[in-house]
Amino acid sequence: MNTGDTNTVVGKPLNRVDGYLKVTGGARYSAEFPVAKLAYGVTIQSAIAKGKIAAIDTKAAEQVPGVLAVITHLNAPKASGEKGGGRKLQVLQDNTVLYSGQHIGIVVADTFERAMHAASLVQIRYQEEQPKINMRENLAQAYLPQGKIPRNEPPDKSHGDITQGLATAAFRVEQTYTTPVENHNPMEPHATTAVWQGDQLLLYDATQGIFQAQQKVAGVLGIEPEKVRVMSYYVGGGFGCKGSAWSHVPLAAMAAKQVNRPVKLVLGRIQMYGPVGFRPQTIQQVSLGATRDGKLTALRHAGISQTSTFDEFIEPVAKSARMIYACPHIETSHHLVQLDTGTPTFMRAPGEASGSFALESAMDELAYALNIDPIELRLRNYAEIDPDKKLPWSSKSLRECYRIGAEKFGWQKRNSKPGSMRDGNYLIGWGMATATYPTNRSPASAIAQIMADGTAVVRSGSQDIGTGTYTVMTQVAAEALGLPVEKVRFELGDTKMPETPVSGGSQTAASVSSAVHLAGNEARSKVLQLALSDRNSPLYGVNAEDVIAQDGSLFLKNKSSQTETYAGILARHGLKMIEARADAKPGEEKEKYSMHAFGSQFAEVRVNPDSGEVRVTRWVGTFGVGRILNAKTARSQLIGGIVYGIGMALMEHTVTDPHRGRVVNADLAEYHVPVNADVPNIEVLWVDERDPYVNPLGVKGIGEIGITGTAAAIANAVYHATGKRIRDLPITLDKLL
Ligand code: MOS
Repeated sequence: MNTGDTNTVVGKPLNRVDGYLKVTGGARYSAEFPVAKLAYGVTIQSAIAKGKIAAIDTKAAEQVPGVLAVITHLNAPKASGEKGGGRKLQVLQDNTVLYSGQHIGIVVADTFERAMHAASLVQIRYQEEQPKINMRENLAQAYLPQGKIPRNEPPDKSHGDITQGLATAAFRVEQTYTTPVENHNPMEPHATTAVWQGDQLLLYDATQGIFQAQQKVAGVLGIEPEKVRVMSYYVGGGFGCKGSAWSHVPLAAMAAKQVNRPVKLVLGRIQMYGPVGFRPQTIQQVSLGATRDGKLTALRHAGISQTSTFDEFIEPVAKSARMIYACPHIETSHHLVQLDTGTPTFMRAPGEASGSFALESAMDELAYALNIDPIELRLRNYAEIDPDKKLPWSSKSLRECYRIGAEKFGWQKRNSKPGSMRDGNYLIGWGMATATYPTNRSPASAIAQIMADGTAVVRSGSQDIGTGTYTVMTQVAAEALGLPVEKVRFELGDTKMPETPVSGGSQTAASVSSAVHLAGNEARSKVLQLALSDRNSPLYGVNAEDVIAQDGSLFLKNKSSQTETYAGILARHGLKMIEARADAKPGEEKEKYSMHAFGSQFAEVRVNPDSGEVRVTRWVGTFGVGRILNAKTARSQLIGGIVYGIGMALMEHTVTDPHRGRVVNADLAEYHVPVNADVPNIEVLWVDERDPYVNPLGVKGIGEIGITGTAAAIANAVYHATGKRIRDLPITLDKLL
């Protein structure tokens, strides 16, 4: 059986199916569910970074009218902060303070304002110890972690002999690049509403992973995961900080139990800096060796990043260096320094974003040292196979990305001499970099139901963190089912639905589309089989291959008058619906192919030579990212990634007080992110890439690749404009004067 050609809705720039609800306020976010008898939780956070709570006085808080409970380590129920996978949490089990901003108490009241006021009245006396806050001052304690970096890879790895590779090089670049702590700042803060119904817990949670939150909360509370239901219909951005259930999630559940009422706990913007992760500071050493004609002989990328004293997060900055360029001698490593801060976490392209700043800046430095065009240098070291795994690529369009990007940008008009291009008094710089991000996929399931009225409902746990899951899965489902999109409703965001992975690692489109595609196909086949085996059907006895499914009807390929509708088939059989479930998972393609998305980033900057101000004025990003499920949402994701990268390059920097470990710019007035005026016209293009191996639909995932290479392209453009090589992000004006 075929689906008719006119029904290839996958790829079309369909408007968001949830767009109307979002702009009219009808889309319900996790803090917006109307729950009867709702109480409000406000957490108390530690004012020191390390030590003990010596005394805590809650009397005044408890006397505030409407206060239902003040929970601290003195009266909290028993729980485990470690069980259930994911981050180690702090859930009021003892008087230890591990970082500034740690939740050390929670006040619950009948109104938010009363809870806030009461929380301010809690008096705490600390036994303060000297914290380690500054990574540079503690580099002597850097260690090679036991843990793995993503894809179960060791933190250190080498091929060949790096010493020899560097020794034999005619040209060398050996530099150190640094990136600061950054915070995610999704529009929607973390929010959890906890509702107990007997021994069953319902959580409305702002999360990138409802099933992971379910496991974590069940583990911490010591109850069966089946007793916990997590719902998350809309998420106002995640970027990685909602990829783990943090301490406030089980705390909301514990508080709700204690007061015997539903509790809503929303973190304020200031509370988003500390207890819910951040991108760690990195110090990266890159050594490149090359022959006179620009062939890499050595590539060394060594990263140091911070983690907490109680948990481990490795920012895998050197991961891409293992596969991005052909080179006989590659050495990569990751070391950690433990600091008295919260645990850092995934932030949009963790490792690839921060690491590509270093490596792609170094490649530009090498291009200048060799006097070779930076694109040409990359082409001379083009990896035809994965140099680490020694596997062929499932697909790779990077050559086309360089070519198309350069053409669109007008790269051949570039005078490579720094400071040579001007617009009046302004210095103009053009820079480029390679983008790459791995193609991830995890097991995912879906259920498709074709209803008696000829509509369909498809369900799959999952999340829509603003990326467009509702929309693209509606398209995938419609195509598989042979129905118009208007007749298909796709539902997600409930652990009662079929299981799916966390929306991290850019894997939701690839993982969930595989399941939705299979479930849709299966449901359509079931309807077809009903028709083919039914004497009363006009399609009785014909070959399945000769039947086309389109717009909710089946008809014979060469005789479209021989037809009937899904609704007609179900009615004749007295069926209310036909249902199919599919469990999709990756197979052995992982062992046979190396799977990555690639791209090229081209940036133009305009630098004011008097003030050092850098403006990004033009951008061309070209990507090979497999099959595009929706041209509009895909474009938005890629643009969003580039904008995130502009922030990383020029603005974002979480500043921490070195004495008490407190973030001093914990709000959107002081923590700068790009606004419209900072973002130029970004041109995003993609190569028509058909990848038959990655997954059934050939989807590579686009949530993160956009940021990769972005900061380097800007740093390289700034060098081209000014002759100043800034190796320390963000590139603020003080560094250019
Ligand atoms: Mo993304 S940082 O993998 O949520």
